[in-house]
Amino acid sequence: MSVTVLVGAQWGDEGKGKVSCYLARHADLVARFSGGNNAGHTVVIEGKEFKLQLIPSGVFYPDKLVLLGSGMVIDPAGLLDEMEKLQKGGHPCANVRISALAHLVLPYHREIDKIQEQSRGKFSLGTTQKGVGPAYSDKSERIGIRVGDLLDEKRFLERLQFNVEVKKNRFQGLNGHVDVKAIAGSYQEYAKRLKPLIVDTSKLIHDAIAKGKSVLCEGAQGMMLDLDFGTYPYVTSSVTTAGGVTTGLGIPPAAVTDVYAIVKAYTTRVGQGVFPTEDTGSIGQFLQEKGHEFGTVTGRVRRCGWMDGMVLNYGKLINGYTGLVITKLDVLSGLDEVKICEAYRAGGETLTDFPIDSAVFQNSAPVYRTFPGWKEDISNARKMSDLPKTCRAYLSFIEEYTKVPIKYVSVGADRDAMIAA
Ligand code: IMP
Repeated sequence: MSVTVLVGAQWGDEGKGKVSCYLARHADLVARFSGGNNAGHTVVIEGKEFKLQLIPSGVFYPDKLVLLGSGMVIDPAGLLDEMEKLQKGGHPCANVRISALAHLVLPYHREIDKIQEQSRGKFSLGTTQKGVGPAYSDKSERIGIRVGDLLDEKRFLERLQFNVEVKKNRFQGLNGHVDVKAIAGSYQEYAKRLKPLIVDTSKLIHDAIAKGKSVLCEGAQGMMLDLDFGTYPYVTSSVTTAGGVTTGLGIPPAAVTDVYAIVKAYTTRVGQGVFPTEDTGSIGQFLQEKGHEFGTVTGRVRRCGWMDGMVLNYGKLINGYTGLVITKLDVLSGLDEVKICEAYRAGGETLTDFPIDSAVFQNSAPVYRTFPGWKEDISNARKMSDLPKTCRAYLSFIEEYTKVPIKYVSVGADRDAMIAA
């Protein structure tokens, strides 16, 4: 029996989808525990590209159960669209199940997301405008509508009518944008199509654990976007840390056997917020272009910079990483030197612990350790010994600095462009 959790160790977009797709072959069940279609990842299988936003990457293995957990917020239109594209690409999605307890994203959530972003002015967060934040707000306000509510037409309509009244009173800009009848009609249509997939996903997971099976839990976004432990308020609205498997899948904490940090070999961030190792010069541009750093969901250019060891060690404390998976290492090939931030300088002091005070973090400057780069193309490397010596020295330092072993290294977009350490 194993329960392995995959956590993005930075600000998201670390390549969790690809890693999950690679590791899913050894799992019996793959479950996602948080977020909605604000997330997005690209998986390349034998040269064919698939874009996923809600469905875990286990979907490519028809013999694995693939679950959208209760901690998620689900836009049914987005989900059905994703399923259709997968089906057209030869993946029937017959193995997908959705938690009845997950919350629904409704069309007015997207409108509210836009209105809220505009009203935040200089405090805007740069959200993906997918309505994810407003859907989670409804959940905490205890007026959310859940996936299971789709199965009871009367209950769904009552909740929808109540919800829309609340929203119209609160957001003047909404008037005219919400048509209850049209929403009810389209959601009943979605309900018909999704009904066979709506289940108690926790029970499926508990049964799998009881039978000694392997469960892979796929996180969304990254550690630093976590609602509690991330760079608040420039965060997403859900739990992105390993704790999300208990709150978002109903897995008891003691059942977790491994927590893998998915770490991009450099750092990227989309949306607003402090990013100490950001490089707005030629290195940032090199990483952005070579790493194709555009948001999968919004198409926004991702901000880029060196790896931040302070962020990794902070994430280790919160998540208890038992292994690291380094991704996009091939992107660093060609640089004369590569750097890792190993401390911050703030207020005349050197910090080696991550500052949770946002004012200190805001004024933190990176202290770098520099390594010689490598020029070789490493995308065909399939074992550690295939990597140049300088590249291995960079990886060894990451292990030494975090005191967490590297388990896998990804050297290309394809699912199989992976080295098991
Ligand atoms: P929201 O999740 O759409 O509310 O956006 C809040 C913040 O999280 C913004 O800075 C987004 O750019 C960021 N964000 C949300 N989802 C992702 C993701 O999958 N990758 C990277 N950043 C994300």
